[in-house]
Amino acid sequence: MEMKALNMHKASESRLKPTLGLFDATAISVGAIIGGGIFVVTGIVAGLAGPALVISMIIAAMIALFTALSFVELTAWLPIEGSVYEFAYRLVSPFAGFLAGWMWIVSNTFVGAAVSLGFSYYLVALFPALDFRLIAAIICITFTILNYFGVRHSAMFNNILVSAKVLILLVFVSFGLFHVKAGNFTPFIPSGTGVLYGAYFIFFAYGGFARVAVVAEEVKDAKRVIPRSIILALAISTIIYILVGTVAVGLIGAKNLGKSNSPLAEAMSTVGNPILVYVVSLGGMIATASVLLTSILGVSRMIFAMARKKDLPYALSNLHPKYNTPYGSILIVGVVMTLLALFVNLAGVVAVSTFALLFYYALANVSDLRLKTDVRLYPKFLPAIGLATCITLLAFIQPSALAIGGICLLIGTLYYMGKEKMAA
Ligand code: ALA
Repeated sequence: MEMKALNMHKASESRLKPTLGLFDATAISVGAIIGGGIFVVTGIVAGLAGPALVISMIIAAMIALFTALSFVELTAWLPIEGSVYEFAYRLVSPFAGFLAGWMWIVSNTFVGAAVSLGFSYYLVALFPALDFRLIAAIICITFTILNYFGVRHSAMFNNILVSAKVLILLVFVSFGLFHVKAGNFTPFIPSGTGVLYGAYFIFFAYGGFARVAVVAEEVKDAKRVIPRSIILALAISTIIYILVGTVAVGLIGAKNLGKSNSPLAEAMSTVGNPILVYVVSLGGMIATASVLLTSILGVSRMIFAMARKKDLPYALSNLHPKYNTPYGSILIVGVVMTLLALFVNLAGVVAVSTFALLFYYALANVSDLRLKTDVRLYPKFLPAIGLATCITLLAFIQPSALAIGGICLLIGTLYYMGKEKMAA
């Protein structure tokens, strides 16, 4: 069963036969969710929220849930590829659609850099002689090349990767649980606002819950299956995150987690079984690498979709004559991700990615507010809460990330205005 949409075979606009069921659809979103967030960003959040790391996770999950309900309503109304780009385009305005697509690209480009750094942290923890930046750059380049040649990403392969990530996190919880020390949870909330700053960072870990919407046309009974899979993916990840976060704090305490770049491997090392540390490190590498693969694929695909509509330079919708991939956009994404991985720190790329993520989630909620009453599933106050909570969480961004995110937004806006002026 090939997920051909993930390989640009839809370029010809031919319709694919829907083959993905609820399990596959849920696995696509879980595959995009579980990555650098839980394996690496947990450390940053522990440093900010202390032992109350789990409270940050719960706050972020609740904010994600309100936005997820908007995606449920939107995808039940119109399961269309392009997701938030199409929704904002059709329900708000072409400019809102452009900005949603643009910030989707920005967010996922920074995700790619973040997970490359996360991959490198876990590998370098096992082999300290390796150069951290070099490894992050090499993995970015390797995955760009794989995408360039149109590497096949089957639903079966995705299911295996997702099962491996989930299984390894459950191994972490099962073995770690018996070594948890109650003393590591006190004082429970060292800093009240730290929990909210932590929620901002760990929101990164939930990004991707609606990813299945971008392959909407390949899902069987899409109007029913996609909404369910979005909620399922978010629920599964939230439960796993809460368990992992609790056990990680209980094993080594928030301070030590906060000092580590490979926090789950560090926590597992207290159990005293080196094999388990290798297993958890392998989990970190599988999770980050799989998110990297889907982010390069996803970004190049969004660029392609926007270029085809002439929202981005039309040349970017050219397909490679032999590999049938949008090679121009793949190369651009690969170069930008590699540069970010070489020169920017993890907290920085995560913070900018989350800014862009919250921005386009806010637009998804605005789009949902515009849905007509006869196709609504929920009252309008739910997307209104989704919108308000996304905007509120943005208040906890670092100033430097706000500046970089704001510049990305400005570049998109100026490009759009220039394009409209030329067309007029
Ligand atoms: N949610 C994705 C991750 O944690 C971006 O890697």
